[in-house]
Amino acid sequence: MNKTQRTKHRWVDGAIVYQAYPRSFYDSNADGIGDIPGVTAKLNYLKTLGVNAIWLSPFYPSPMADFGYDVADYCGVDPIFGSLADMDKLLKQAHKRNIKIMVDLVPNHTSDEHTWFHQSRQSRENPYADWYIWRDPKGHDKNGNPTPPNNWLAMFDGESAWEWEPARQQFYLHTFDVGQPDLNWTNSEVREGVKDAMRFWLDKGIDGFRVDAVPFMAKEPKLKDEPKNPDWKPGWHGYDRLKHVNNQGWPHLFDYLSEMAAVLKEPKYAAHDRFMVTEAYPSWHNKISDYMAYYKGMDPEVAAPFNFEGIGLPWQASEWHDFLKAFHKSLDDFSPLCVASYAFGNHDQSRLVTRIGESAARSAAVLLMTLPGMAFIYNGDELGMKNGIIPPDMVQDPGAVSSEGRDPERTPMQWTPGKNAGFSKADKTWLPIADNYKTHNVRSESWNRQSFLNLYKKLGKLRNTSATLKHGDFKIIPTKHKDVLGYTRSYDKVTHTVLVNFSDKPATAKLTDKPGRFVLSSFASSKPTVIDSTVKLAAHEAVIYEL
Ligand code: GLC
Repeated sequence: MNKTQRTKHRWVDGAIVYQAYPRSFYDSNADGIGDIPGVTAKLNYLKTLGVNAIWLSPFYPSPMADFGYDVADYCGVDPIFGSLADMDKLLKQAHKRNIKIMVDLVPNHTSDEHTWFHQSRQSRENPYADWYIWRDPKGHDKNGNPTPPNNWLAMFDGESAWEWEPARQQFYLHTFDVGQPDLNWTNSEVREGVKDAMRFWLDKGIDGFRVDAVPFMAKEPKLKDEPKNPDWKPGWHGYDRLKHVNNQGWPHLFDYLSEMAAVLKEPKYAAHDRFMVTEAYPSWHNKISDYMAYYKGMDPEVAAPFNFEGIGLPWQASEWHDFLKAFHKSLDDFSPLCVASYAFGNHDQSRLVTRIGESAARSAAVLLMTLPGMAFIYNGDELGMKNGIIPPDMVQDPGAVSSEGRDPERTPMQWTPGKNAGFSKADKTWLPIADNYKTHNVRSESWNRQSFLNLYKKLGKLRNTSATLKHGDFKIIPTKHKDVLGYTRSYDKVTHTVLVNFSDKPATAKLTDKPGRFVLSSFASSKPTVIDSTVKLAAHEAVIYEL
């Protein structure tokens, strides 16, 4: 059975999902930090982009050690972002416009300010004693200080992942910041606790979850030492001194994720087509099998892993050709229920335009919006936003102690060419505004036919009105040019042909068949010359045809 033969269409098939990082999206109360009412205020804008769903990065009560990824209460809203009533309002207003809401779920760790951890750290006997990963010291150093149970490192600072707790005379594990203790997923009470949090939001009417940092939920059962990374060189990030084969990705991960997926299929929720997308970066060498492990290990009817090739693959036609061919074949071979979920950017990764340049980023937009499955747009990427420059006294990210950190891609959304790019009326915003805001902002781009925004709007409209782009089969086609990727999407009697020139030189693609009617080019005023089945593309141009 292929996708065309699938009878039930889910909303995720072909969905455009917009990641709103609430801190940086829109500030409704002039405190310099974006908030939930700010997202509600901009729903009509998202509608003009053709957005079908919003993924909201964490808005839960949090000491903000990791800007909300340190959750102190899974079932609340931090006052910085608003209130539960504001979330209800957002849900209502979004649903009224036929926009779904996915919330971020952070199951691997909580904040050290979560009541579970407050209890857990008090003694070895309290009811939450076994909810986190506690271990005795391995020994003591020459000064009599306890030494960590193993050599594991924390991801942000590259130092020991263990923190001493005097009250228990034990260490707790934190894969990320010291304020993010890892939950003990081998404890069924923990699993029930997180599943109850899921039910809380499902009962409120949310449509799905983006599930954070999932590989770390399943560790090597004995917490064995990690092997050294022989390739590590001074100057590299400290975390990379070791190979991380024991702190993540053990097979019981899929038992945990299946339990979570099963919540989405509980009778109360099943009828509503709820869905979860998991965050797990694949290894460089086994990426297809890494992605497939998630499809196979979860329930593809309600769960899919993010596809991060838009972030990881070099911008080269041959790389994309080989990946797409193998990946979509694996998906089709496994189950017609598999949904790809492509992301070309997020709040942890350098901006797309900064990585590959403006012209290539335009053709990346065409690629993203014509591939099967879910297309994730990180807020601001639709404007061609670039990494911001962060003066040393404004650095926020805990990850910035050992690298540039993630602040550059988190600068405020650019709405207008005015004060604070129209993001906030405050005197100071939590991060500075990136310097291309005068030209790259919603207002100015709306009036400019050539803008990124208008390209995204056109692509959004096309994707939403084309059953072929939503549900069609995917097939790589030959182009007889090493820099041009070609593929078709077909459904019913309509075929779209997409050609992407990855090079900074013009390129001529020779297809087997005529491509059909010209639909759009990544450059607003371009229309490539087509003679029979030969198409002349400009440098970095991507085009769509319809037959
Ligand atoms: C994920 C999030 C990232 C966060 C980390 C720890 O990778 O995307 O922002 O710092 O998990 O929760």
